Amino acid sequence: MQAFADQARQEGKRIAVVPTMGYLHEGHLSLIAEARRRADIVVVTIFVNPTQFGPTEDFARYPRDFERDRQRAERAGADALFHPEAEEMYPAGHSTVVDAGPVGGVLEGTIRPTHFRGVTTVVAKLFNITKPHCAIFGQKDAQQAFLIRRMARDLNFGVEIVVAPIVREADGLALSSRNVYLSADERTRATALVRALELAAERVRAGERSAETLRTIMTARLRADAPTAVDYIAFIDPETFGEIGTLRPPAVLIALAVRFGTTRLIDNMRIEIADTHG
Ligand code: PAJ
Repeated sequence: MQAFADQARQEGKRIAVVPTMGYLHEGHLSLIAEARRRADIVVVTIFVNPTQFGPTEDFARYPRDFERDRQRAERAGADALFHPEAEEMYPAGHSTVVDAGPVGGVLEGTIRPTHFRGVTTVVAKLFNITKPHCAIFGQKDAQQAFLIRRMARDLNFGVEIVVAPIVREADGLALSSRNVYLSADERTRATALVRALELAAERVRAGERSAETLRTIMTARLRADAPTAVDYIAFIDPETFGEIGTLRPPAVLIALAVRFGTTRLIDNMRIEIADTHG
């Protein structure tokens, strides 16, 4: 892979990478299409990264179908697939990691304490292996995208980080490889996440600026679809990823995590906030 990337660079070609864990859906394919628009060589990586799963998480049962992924990636415009084995990525004795910093410990990091260290470490490795000029990530995983952008800056990777919009089903559910875990009934109720976000967006447009009030409204909306648990509803400053109590221009990111049965779903929405002086 490194020799392939070196060759492409010597020929003056621009490389874009799309890191994935496979089981490719339209969300992943939209990232590959974005990469196609931005580069001469599109590399898609498919690696279910064990270090970003917690001990009780779904690593072993995470859905995998390499043959189907290969066809989908090719059709979407991939020039090369990088599909390593775990032993190649983490040979015996590997011990160096990339610490994601404090933002790695909030929201998703509260529930999954070693998750983002696993993500930043594997993405750093994937950047060094595929040597891209740019890398495409999805806004679906807003905290991950924030941390990767920050890592690329903090560690001078010289990789342009592009964040592409969330692709949704017709009924609004954000596409995710984990949606296959939902029962038919849970799948119907899972639109609660996007409905709650839309309701909040409506209230923000109508002038609501209190995170606490919006959280109460969203919680009531979610309860109507009876999730097993609401892990968090967070109001985030998109520039710092810090939580905010009062919404201010230019924008707020509302992020939430909800469980239906044993399946944990996340979603988010960026809402622009009008500058109303007095
Ligand atoms: P994975 O969950 O396979 O997601 C790969 C990329 O697809 C991520 O950038 C993610 O944000 C994006 N994505 C997922 N669902 C999307 C949707 N509905 N719309 C748009 N983009 C979507 O995220 C990972 O893998 C891993 O953590 C990885 C970065 C590959 C590191 O192991």
